[in-house]
Amino acid sequence: MIEARDLTVTLGKHTIVAGQTLTCAPGTLTALVGPSGSGKTTLLHALGLLLPVASGRLSLGGADVTRAGDGARRRFWQSSAAFVLQDYGIIDDESVAFNVTLRGGRAAGRADVAAVLDHVGLAGRGGEQAAVLSGGEKQRLAVARALYKRARVVFVDEPTASLDAENRARIVRYFRDLANQGATVVAATHDDEFVAACDARHEVR
Ligand SMILES: Nc1ncnc2c1ncn2[C@@H]1O[C@H](COP(=O)(O)OP(=O)(O)OP(=O)(O)O)[C@@H](O)[C@H]1O
Ligand SMILES: [Mg+2]
Repeated sequence: MIEARDLTVTLGKHTIVAGQTLTCAPGTLTALVGPSGSGKTTLLHALGLLLPVASGRLSLGGADVTRAGDGARRRFWQSSAAFVLQDYGIIDDESVAFNVTLRGGRAAGRADVAAVLDHVGLAGRGGEQAAVLSGGEKQRLAVARALYKRARVVFVDEPTASLDAENRARIVRYFRDLANQGATVVAATHDDEFVAACDARHEVR
């Protein structure tokens, strides 16, 4: 459960996100919507402890993390969270399979890695260097990483932005499935189809 109360995020001297109150429950998919530049990415990053909170209150699973220290943030990222960020967060120098597992060695060759790659339309490409992938393929690889991790909390930023209709529908279905399996999924999106698949819609302004 993510609970944000009157959350404000500042970058430098600027207040980027002001007074946002929202709750994201396990088993639900929440859309953060609003015009470009309204602060969706910034709010998403704050909810995922990637950015500090200037004021208000943020709790994760009932624990107050408004002033979370490095240890608490790292534990959250390691044990509970997965991110599909706007720049995809792909490590270009590593293989596709490494980018799924974030581990070297045998982990990358496993059947479950092949299965998630197959899921996102990257079957048989685990051994390739990630740098050769197209923008949309990197986006799907970032989704594969979140699926593989089976994270309890998933933060997603414009996961369908550069995809064709077929892949977009697929990706929407995966996040819907993740939520149906009990994950808390929060997605910043401009995609009406994605919003339609969500349980809740939070307007950032
Ligand atoms: N590091 C930063 N320093 C100062 N301002 C920033 C910084 N990062 C973002 N901003 C500003 O904060 C505002 C919100 O940005 P943000 O990326 O959260 O918007 P968004 O709603 O995700 O937009 P989009 O739909 O285009 O992705 C923008 O005006 C942006 O210029
Ligand atoms: Mg954004």
